[in-house]
Amino acid sequence: MRNGTLVITDSSITAVYAAGEEPDNIDILSENQTSPEVIDVTDKIITPGFIDTHRHGWQTVYRTLGSNVSLWEYLGRYSLYSSEGRFTPDVVYISQLAGLYEALNAGVTTILDHTHHTWSNETSKAGLRASIDSGARVVWAYAFQDLQNYTIDEQISNFKDIANEAIFNGTPTTLGIAYDAFYSDKADLIVPLTREYNISALTTHFMAGPWDSGNDPELLDRLDLLNTSVSVVISHGSYVSVKQYELLRRTNQYISITPESEMHYGHLHPTSHLALEQASLGVDAHFTFSTDILTQARMWLQRVRAIFYATPSDAWQISINNPMSVKQAFYLATRSGGLALRRPDLGIIAPGAEADLVVWDGTSPALLGWVDPVAAIILHGSVADIEHVLVDGRFVKRNHTLTTPNYQAVKKRFLKSARIQDVMINTPLPISKQGEKSTFGAPLEYAPVADVERGNGTGYGPNWLGL
Ligand SMILES: *[C@@H]1O[C@H](CO)[C@@H](O)[C@H](O)[C@H]1NC(C)=O
Ligand SMILES: *[C@@H]1O[C@H](CO)[C@@H](O)[C@H](O)[C@H]1NC(C)=O
Ligand SMILES: *[C@@H]1O[C@H](CO)[C@@H](O)[C@H](O)[C@H]1NC(C)=O
Ligand SMILES: *[C@@H]1O[C@H](CO)[C@@H](O)[C@H](O)[C@H]1NC(C)=O
Ligand SMILES: *[C@@H]1O[C@H](CO)[C@@H](O)[C@H](O)[C@H]1NC(C)=O
Ligand SMILES: *[C@@H]1O[C@H](CO)[C@@H](O)[C@H](O)[C@H]1NC(C)=O
Ligand SMILES: *[C@@H]1O[C@H](CO)[C@@H](O)[C@H](O)[C@H]1NC(C)=O
Ligand SMILES: *[C@@H]1O[C@H](CO)[C@@H](O)[C@H](O)[C@H]1NC(C)=O
Ligand SMILES: *[C@@H]1O[C@H](CO)[C@@H](O)[C@H](O)[C@H]1NC(C)=O
Ligand SMILES: [Zn+2]
Repeated sequence: MRNGTLVITDSSITAVYAAGEEPDNIDILSENQTSPEVIDVTDKIITPGFIDTHRHGWQTVYRTLGSNVSLWEYLGRYSLYSSEGRFTPDVVYISQLAGLYEALNAGVTTILDHTHHTWSNETSKAGLRASIDSGARVVWAYAFQDLQNYTIDEQISNFKDIANEAIFNGTPTTLGIAYDAFYSDKADLIVPLTREYNISALTTHFMAGPWDSGNDPELLDRLDLLNTSVSVVISHGSYVSVKQYELLRRTNQYISITPESEMHYGHLHPTSHLALEQASLGVDAHFTFSTDILTQARMWLQRVRAIFYATPSDAWQISINNPMSVKQAFYLATRSGGLALRRPDLGIIAPGAEADLVVWDGTSPALLGWVDPVAAIILHGSVADIEHVLVDGRFVKRNHTLTTPNYQAVKKRFLKSARIQDVMINTPLPISKQGEKSTFGAPLEYAPVADVERGNGTGYGPNWLGL
């Protein structure tokens, strides 16, 4: 729609008018308002906010530390287990908050956070407080985990405390549950909580193929977790099978594809392009790479195109058509995330939807001359083009600037906390032997390495030609 008018009342979109159809007087006003505040969006593009269905916000302080590690190495140095005992509640708070500001700045308005910073009563509350303070729409999924110094029983008391305290009321943040050990006997303690409490989503990591992480859809179904009204988001879903996809399709549950993470860390996604009706997008370990869902959508679009093009091309044929449209990528980044969370009022622009919006400068160097707004955003746009961001009808970014008055102070506090980086850099990576069995079951092996420097002994990859 070009030159339209969009009306927001309180936290919702209440009307959308095509050019020339808007009434002379907008009479749907918020409480205490006598006339609407009019925001001129001439030459702008308005889209729904992006939806990220998988992230670990607490990891922001590790920024750039994972630039060349594999998932196997990550687990030995940056995982929730290697981080237990190293984060004060204060560091959790500021790391989570700085990460959420980064996401909001990038137009990501809804985030399903698999928290796993729940190492103590205090660290969990700090991460929750930061989520609420950020102004983002966070589904804060309490992670139950097998820790050294914090038992599952203590975690359950903490969870119940948080669920009963009603600290969420009046904020866009809601409570979820994250759990990665449905195969263990402790699952009996967690499964009932998903029914007893009014949670917004249940989420779990699942990868098949060599990973065999457990938490497969069949197991979740046997535990009666899939065919219910609660949203279940299965993160990655690497190597998802036909049978598993069918189960998700029938119960209308989703996998969260995290394209950049799965390529960077190596969990991969060889079948995910076949499961797109039940898929949304996520970022995952944002300390390592892009935090914006736009980049994820663009990477995944081109990845899927490459995979589908290979079908004719590998048979020495030339494809006539392009296998995936920009609109499909746009839906994945917006509407599909809402559907994964069972929130059809998120990720769309329509009367009745939440007012979570991104306003793009349609005259920026990158977008100037656009004809198709979806193509403009998906293939040409970047965070630099985002002028305003609204969550729940409130500006969180306005005129290219985060609206929080404390951002400078947050930055300072964050930089102090980032001293934890020295500790992590000096933590040895796991000692791994080729051929040895990994904790996932499959053996360990070296991947070939790339080397862009000519000559022998440049310190990284092989000299393939011996020249
Ligand atoms: C939108 O507004 C511009 C500037 O007023 C005008 O040139 C253009 O024709 C309009 N387009 C549509 C589709 O109404
Ligand atoms: C409207 O005004 C009343 C009385 O001043 C106040 O209590 C209420 O919070 C206001 N509502 C909003 C949405 O600002
Ligand atoms: C990445 O790998 C290169 C080459 O091994 C190394 O010099 C660099 O320190 C690594 N960077 C990080 C952040 O680990
Ligand atoms: C667990 O507690 C013990 C005893 O206080 C301490 O030595 C250990 O470092 C703690 N472990 C972690 C991961 O915090
Ligand atoms: C953690 O919170 C629970 C629930 O309020 C409480 O029972 C427990 O004593 C707390 N643990 C610590 C170590 O403070
Ligand atoms: C459940 O939580 C949602 C927000 O996630 C809230 O809108 C709804 O009123 C809650 N329902 C009950 C029965 O508490
Ligand atoms: C889900 O449950 C409904 C009844 O509540 C049943 O009719 C349907 O067959 C079930 N679907 C699956 C896939 O189990
Ligand atoms: C952005 O800044 C300009 C220039 O100061 C101002 O006219 C405009 O109202 C601002 N827009 C919003 C949405 O605040
Ligand atoms: C490259 O280095 C390896 C050992 O580091 C050596 O065996 C080989 O001869 C070298 N090749 C050339 C072309 O110098
Ligand atoms: Zn993850």
